[in-house]
Amino acid sequence: MKDEVLIIGCGEIGTALIDGWLNKSKIFFKKVSQINIVDKSLKRKLVLKKKYKNKINIIDQNKLNNLKKNFKYVFLAFKPKDLNFSLDLYKKIFNKNTNFYSLLAGKKLDDIRTFFPLNKNIIRVMLNTSISVNSGTIAVYSLKRNLNKNDLFLLNILGNVHKLDNEKFFDLITAIVGSGPAYFYYLLELMEKTAVSYGLRKKFAKKIIKETYIGTAKSLNILDGEFSDLKRKITSKGGTTEAAIKCLNKNNFNKVISNSIKESVKKAKILSFKK
Ligand SMILES: NC(=O)c1ccc[n+]([C@@H]2O[C@H](COP(=O)([O-])OP(=O)(O)OC[C@H]3O[C@@H](n4cnc5c(N)ncnc54)[C@H](OP(=O)(O)O)[C@@H]3O)[C@@H](O)[C@H]2O)c1
Repeated sequence: MKDEVLIIGCGEIGTALIDGWLNKSKIFFKKVSQINIVDKSLKRKLVLKKKYKNKINIIDQNKLNNLKKNFKYVFLAFKPKDLNFSLDLYKKIFNKNTNFYSLLAGKKLDDIRTFFPLNKNIIRVMLNTSISVNSGTIAVYSLKRNLNKNDLFLLNILGNVHKLDNEKFFDLITAIVGSGPAYFYYLLELMEKTAVSYGLRKKFAKKIIKETYIGTAKSLNILDGEFSDLKRKITSKGGTTEAAIKCLNKNNFNKVISNSIKESVKKAKILSFKK
């Protein structure tokens, strides 16, 4: 029998999940009969309705308790700050066999387990928006030692899944994997701004920067070696790249990056304590 999926809170990450699954709909719908979502924002629901039409089922929050459904796979995809008052509403539509996937940055597995003490299948997940194109990086942690194919089926569709033995690095992984795409986009944005300041047309600047980025990312799939070696190979002595790298070093780029990641890790820790 096929099972149903429920996404609670369907913003950026919720829609990325849906996009990734629908891209691989043949595999996805072999096991799943329906994608359901609940979102407390009316505006969001209208956006989702327009985007997905009848491909998803939007459930009214007020009608949840009268629902005759048991969801097998439940994704918690609202903001971490909403955890404490978000879950009670939904308790009746879960049973002890429900699999929970918590995407909430900073929230520990134990924070989620307190809401569902009878459930064995609770998986803490960190991923990024690249799941929307099935190229996500997905880290998972669960008390269940042998997460099986069924537990990971919905995540495997979305990208590369990495099982962690220890939760202690989750905040760091959040800062790198979850936030990572934003750092890259920021770098591209700043490169574009600089190019435009030289008088290059914005559209053209965007195009060549995007191509350069995608080309570099594709090369990484086949090139071997440390990142530092790859950088060195295109940094010839006395050349233009070297001039730029020297300037980055002089301006403490190294420290800026490491401090930024530290700030992100710190924030994840704060979120984990916030009640
Ligand atoms: N965005 C990323 O790249 C990323 C990456 C990794 C992990 N995450 C994690 O994914 C989660 C979602 O992030 P996001 O960026 O997708 O957030 P988002 O765009 O703000 O979406 C969250 C949605 O959930 C709704 N919501 C809040 N409480 C709810 C409730 N009790 N029931 C139903 N809907 C509820 C919100 O409505 P309102 O706006 O009305 O509150 C909003 O529409 C976060 O926990 C974040 O830590 C995000």
